[in-house]
Amino acid sequence: MDHFLYRDGELFAEDVAVAEIAATVGTPFYCYSAATLTRHYRLFDEALAGMDHLVCYAMKAASNLAIVKLLGDMGAGMDVVSGGEYARAKAAGVPGERIVFSGVGKTRAEMRMALEGGIRQFNVESEPEMRALSEVACAMGARAPVTVRVNPDVDARTHAKIATGKSENKFGIPISRARAVFAEAAALEGLEVVGIDVHIGSQLTDLEPFRQAYAKVAELTETLRADGHDIRRLDLGGGLGIPYTTSNEVPPLPGDYGAVIRETVGHLGCEIEIEPGRLVAGNAGILVAGVIYVKSGEGRDFLILDAAMNDLIRPAMYDAHHDIVPVREPAPGAEGARYDVVGPVCETGDTFARARDMAAVAPGDLVAFRGAGAYGAVMASEYNSRPLVPEILVQGDQFAVIRARPTLDEMLNRDSIPCWL
Ligand code: LLP
Repeated sequence: MDHFLYRDGELFAEDVAVAEIAATVGTPFYCYSAATLTRHYRLFDEALAGMDHLVCYAMKAASNLAIVKLLGDMGAGMDVVSGGEYARAKAAGVPGERIVFSGVGKTRAEMRMALEGGIRQFNVESEPEMRALSEVACAMGARAPVTVRVNPDVDARTHAKIATGKSENKFGIPISRARAVFAEAAALEGLEVVGIDVHIGSQLTDLEPFRQAYAKVAELTETLRADGHDIRRLDLGGGLGIPYTTSNEVPPLPGDYGAVIRETVGHLGCEIEIEPGRLVAGNAGILVAGVIYVKSGEGRDFLILDAAMNDLIRPAMYDAHHDIVPVREPAPGAEGARYDVVGPVCETGDTFARARDMAAVAPGDLVAFRGAGAYGAVMASEYNSRPLVPEILVQGDQFAVIRARPTLDEMLNRDSIPCWL
């Protein structure tokens, strides 16, 4: 459920007309609903009620400071994957003890930064990383709390580019080698092993892969405890999918996912962490674009928007589907149209949808891409020297620009010309 609904013939974000925002900030822009973000976070928090738990929002999905602060103020933890995300979490007021640090390639500088600023745990992914972290911690006179990420070799049944839990993926250590790796971790002076981490992929629309992975983690917990490790924390990753169209099947809800967690690992008495990103932010954001032209091609009409692949890369990168709806609600019975929906960038990959049946629109009209809140703005670039797309947050009847569109001068001034030219 989200808070982008038609009212009085036009699309609203909560109690603000999307067209009003467009008139103020221009297009394209991302628009988030605070009510949807907080609602989704709460669903996860409630799904784990009764268990000692922390929902660590995967900031990579949407990491604007305002979003991080909104969720952090509700008590959310943060899952960060870079020094940049760590700095954002801290700047948004999230205490170190609620920040977990994931990723296969943490640098020593990033490790130092997190140890200095405070960290709940590092989710380490390899022996070389463990050794580096131990050295960094020892040099600082600290001990780094760690979980070791295991790769359970489970098929997440999602897009190949976002599946992470198969043995051929770069993530984690093979679960078959876990006992040896945990033994080494426990012997490293700078580390304090607190638990196990797993994350099998993103946009999962079926609970079965989670069940399989978590059952393996439960078994491993018992094995490692028998080996003498104090496994007291399980980080179960993120990955629960969202509906991207109103027509296809509805993925399981956070409550169903919570039940799988309870059934598979609930008996172990561990503190549970989860790292949802997409489900918190995805349907809490839309990308609003203006129609520049409608161009007739051979056997097709191109709907040319002022948003492009640099603003929303998901269709080009993952063949992802996003519903595209007009901001002015079509009159009942109005005739639809079929478009290839494209942006102005000079490559064919800059196509949002092919042969899309949707409401007929005209130059000057506004359209909204639904489900664009996660992995939208964060993956945007300035390709073709198109200014980075701005972000807006709506709460009730108020809206604020939470990242302004850079001016062309600001863009140009980031470059510098060497004196010898
Ligand atoms: N934890 C870890 C360790 C992750 O790698 C990820 C996502 C998450 C949590 C959050 O997963 P979520 O709940 O959002 O599914 N750019 C792609 C998605 C990449 C996901 C990467 N890892 C897309 O646009 O579909």
